[in-house]
Amino acid sequence: MRLLITGGAGFIGANYIRYVLSVHPDYHVINLDKLTYSGNLGNLKGIDGYPNYTFVRGDICDRNVLDGIKFDAIVNFAAESHVDRSILDASPFLQTNIMGTHNLLETAKQRDCIFLHVSTDEVYGTIEKESFNENSPLRPNSPYAASKAASDMLVRSYVETHKIKAIITRCSNNYGPYQFPEKLIPLVIINALNMKPIPVYGDGMNVRDWIYVTDHCKGIDTVLHNGKNGEVYNIGSRNERANIELIKLLLVKVAGRINLNENEFAGLINFVRDRKGHDRRYAIDSSKIEQQLGWKPEISFDEGISKTVDWYISNKQWWQRIISGEYMQYYNTQYAERLKK
Ligand code: NAD
Ligand code: DAU
Repeated sequence: MRLLITGGAGFIGANYIRYVLSVHPDYHVINLDKLTYSGNLGNLKGIDGYPNYTFVRGDICDRNVLDGIKFDAIVNFAAESHVDRSILDASPFLQTNIMGTHNLLETAKQRDCIFLHVSTDEVYGTIEKESFNENSPLRPNSPYAASKAASDMLVRSYVETHKIKAIITRCSNNYGPYQFPEKLIPLVIINALNMKPIPVYGDGMNVRDWIYVTDHCKGIDTVLHNGKNGEVYNIGSRNERANIELIKLLLVKVAGRINLNENEFAGLINFVRDRKGHDRRYAIDSSKIEQQLGWKPEISFDEGISKTVDWYISNKQWWQRIISGEYMQYYNTQYAERLKK
């Protein structure tokens, strides 16, 4: 199998490449990535020398770059992925997430190859009680979520109209190694280690369902090999936590790991202006993938959080390179804006 993995230099894509090459050592992986601000070849250190791994720097919107690559299946991770950035400027989200997916769908149509589209639970929008299943209506609330919902709709239309072989996965909030520091969990760990304030949006009571990244990768791989053409599969972990509860737990874990009294961190928690259109709660029902394909999450929340805290503490160089670059300017501007009444 020759697998084209798009966005493989990002957080989940890089974890997926590591996973695929460990369980399918006979596969050839081609990683097509534009290397935007969140793409980092350092995420694939150790893999880059494998004879069955090839990196191609390129844009999923560029038809020419795809013409030059041979593959049997596409797993599409490439995206603009951060909600806050989509509120500042939606254009790159529409370009990559919609136009880029369309370009890949055209390629899948021509090549008659399998197309697995990695989507998100955010397409369903917010829910107060119970959870969304695969038949729930799409009600995206951020420009990011709207762009992902649009790409899901395009995939559906190519299955119905052009009979391409495509499947969609919709996962909840991932965490684990190599996650870019703009996202909540790495941000809390890194700010705590640097004794910097931790911005808690609104009242801190927004709820997310957290899944360890390798459980998501295993779910994607299960769907790629055993999923039914044209179907959607939710992938979640039933680990719902309010943000403030998660932040406090992370601070306890970090303090324990560096032998500090956790009270030293108490003053870092800083409630700031809320995210615009902030979804209150995400919750998905993953019983379809569990019952039909036999997948289930394996890493408990406590174990996953401990592993993640350990990874960021042991890999300071990885994130210090990022926070010493242009990311810090983005972060400081955002943070200053959030302090304004
Ligand atoms: P990320 O931002 O860490 O990585 C995105 C990668 O895509 C980067 O390597 C970037 O360089 C690349 N990329 C961006 N635009 C590109 C383009 N035009 N052409 C080629 N490469 C491009 O994101 P992530 O958190 O790893 O998310 C990966 C996918 O999983 C996204 O589609 C996202 O919507 C989805 N997802 C993420 C989560 C989560 O919690 N992070 C949950 C569910 C679904
Ligand atoms: O649900 C899946 C989605 O999860 C993915 O599709 C997205 O790509 C991914 O970024 C993530 O989206 P969220 O918006 O839920 O993740 P984020 O880490 O940005 O925020 C998590 C929660 O924490 C959210 O309620 C906002 C809040 N938050 C976030 C940041 C960055 C804070 O309170 N403070 C912060 O500084």
